[in-house]
Amino acid sequence: MAERAEQGLKKGLTSYGDTGFSLFLRKAFIKGMGYSDDALDRPIVGIIDTASGFNACHANVPDLVEAVKRGVMLAGALPVPFPTISVHESFSHPTSMFLRNLMAIDTEEMIRAQPMDAVVMIGGCDKTVPAQLMGAISADIPAIQLVTGPMLTGRHRSERVGACTDCRRFWGRHRAGEIDEAEIAEVNDRLVPGAGTCGVMGTASTMALVTEAMGMMAPGGATPPAVSADRRRVAETTGGLAVRLAAEGRKPSEIVTRDSIENALVVLLATGGSTNAIVHLAAIAGRAGLKLDLDAFDAIGRRVPVLVDLKPSGSNYMEDLHAAGGLLTILRELTGHLHLDCMTVTGRTLGQEIEAGPAGWRQEIVAPLAKPIYPEGGIAVVRGNLAPGGAIVKQSAATANLLTHRGRAIVFSSIADMAARVDDPDLDVRAEDILVLQNAGPKGAPGMPEAGYMPIPKKLGAAGVKDMVRISDARMSGTASGTIVLHVTPESADGGPLALVRTGDIIELDVPGRRLHLDVSNEELEERRKSFVAPDHQGSDRGYKKLFLDTVLQADEGCDFSFLLPARTGVVPGSE
Ligand code: FES
Ligand code: MG
Repeated sequence: MAERAEQGLKKGLTSYGDTGFSLFLRKAFIKGMGYSDDALDRPIVGIIDTASGFNACHANVPDLVEAVKRGVMLAGALPVPFPTISVHESFSHPTSMFLRNLMAIDTEEMIRAQPMDAVVMIGGCDKTVPAQLMGAISADIPAIQLVTGPMLTGRHRSERVGACTDCRRFWGRHRAGEIDEAEIAEVNDRLVPGAGTCGVMGTASTMALVTEAMGMMAPGGATPPAVSADRRRVAETTGGLAVRLAAEGRKPSEIVTRDSIENALVVLLATGGSTNAIVHLAAIAGRAGLKLDLDAFDAIGRRVPVLVDLKPSGSNYMEDLHAAGGLLTILRELTGHLHLDCMTVTGRTLGQEIEAGPAGWRQEIVAPLAKPIYPEGGIAVVRGNLAPGGAIVKQSAATANLLTHRGRAIVFSSIADMAARVDDPDLDVRAEDILVLQNAGPKGAPGMPEAGYMPIPKKLGAAGVKDMVRISDARMSGTASGTIVLHVTPESADGGPLALVRTGDIIELDVPGRRLHLDVSNEELEERRKSFVAPDHQGSDRGYKKLFLDTVLQADEGCDFSFLLPARTGVVPGSE
């Protein structure tokens, strides 16, 4: 390897006037781990190790670190693993979204602080991949994403199950009295049969696919199951690619561009991907200096249909998509909608990667463009006096006849209020009503929890009601389904019109017309606004929570912190 001035251990030396002594000290310390000069005189590839006893989605990270190291060493460089925080969906109080930006800051600063010529970022669980990409874009050193990969499916009494679309389905049946305590306990043992990320088209799967589409991942890297040999081979390949990225000095800024983010948005729509991904892609775009244009995104959704038959929009699992050829099979259908000249981490363009990949076997997971699973993109953007800054709905996972609906609002002022009252037998609620949740947005909860999937009131569930229109400023798990309007912007805690809705108001949802209207006069809304009081956040006068509340942006800007964004240079998707 040709040595360059600022390569390997010499990178980023703080010399205080004596560079030689600084390098001498650095070498002395790292030699405490047994390295030779031969090892240390090479390019260094950092490997972000996000294994954690609280993160089952990352349980295979130790294996992957070993495989990446092998790839790095085979290519003649030195691999150096290091930790950052790890964020799991179920172990992140108050929410994982609350911690995503903390992980992004950790990632950015640690890859900038430590001497590495390239970095392999091992993420997987929902918030980790966006956090790592956000950090890498801001640090802008050669970087490549590796994901832990999806978990395999389990079996409950010979029925195939997977986290966490089936978690919700079984729990819904339990709430409705169809499944008793003993059986639901049995189901609990089956839903997560091993290491890896949720095996449906949830946020983790969606982010893996859009990251590969964006060119930041080894080709074929999104879908191999966590426990497969394929997954370890992808890790080994990733290590080798990182060494090449270092040698060629190719940075995220050459890969994450307006066009490649647009490719990611197309894939999000075609996969029926998670609604969370739109928030993350807005944040990723923001780090690249671009503002996500929700209406332009929606316009793409009118042209790009859902092709992938995975839960929750369809009926299969990630291991099936892997067997069907993974992302490549999807991209091949979408070539007419993609920017094929985008650069990827391989040094080849997306178009070249599509041509180089295997093709041509029969499969039933990715539909042809001419015969899609759903005629439009998975996510639609609605606007109106209830959501001047936009709101989104996963139309492909909704109930068709509820997409156009007019109904009476049943308002819950907070998650606690909803929890206290939604199952009350005396609650005046009917199937055709619209459930409204306030104060569950970025600042309101805080941390924009996945509370948008409000439970169907127990008495209605028991009467067979499976879906209702539900509206909030919260997020929803990518594994959930229903006619659920999310990310209402501006949020109610910020004084958005959502805060002014009262029980009994009439709301009109018209997804085909992209409209969300509160049927209350402007005068009346202004009157109500006079008594608006922002929620009081106990303990928000210090620490990370204060930083979060003071600086978090709304959903349309990806819920990033305002001070982390560079100057804006354009919008995405751009005009054609
Ligand atoms: Fe980690 Fe679903 S909980 S991917
Ligand atoms: Mg999730």
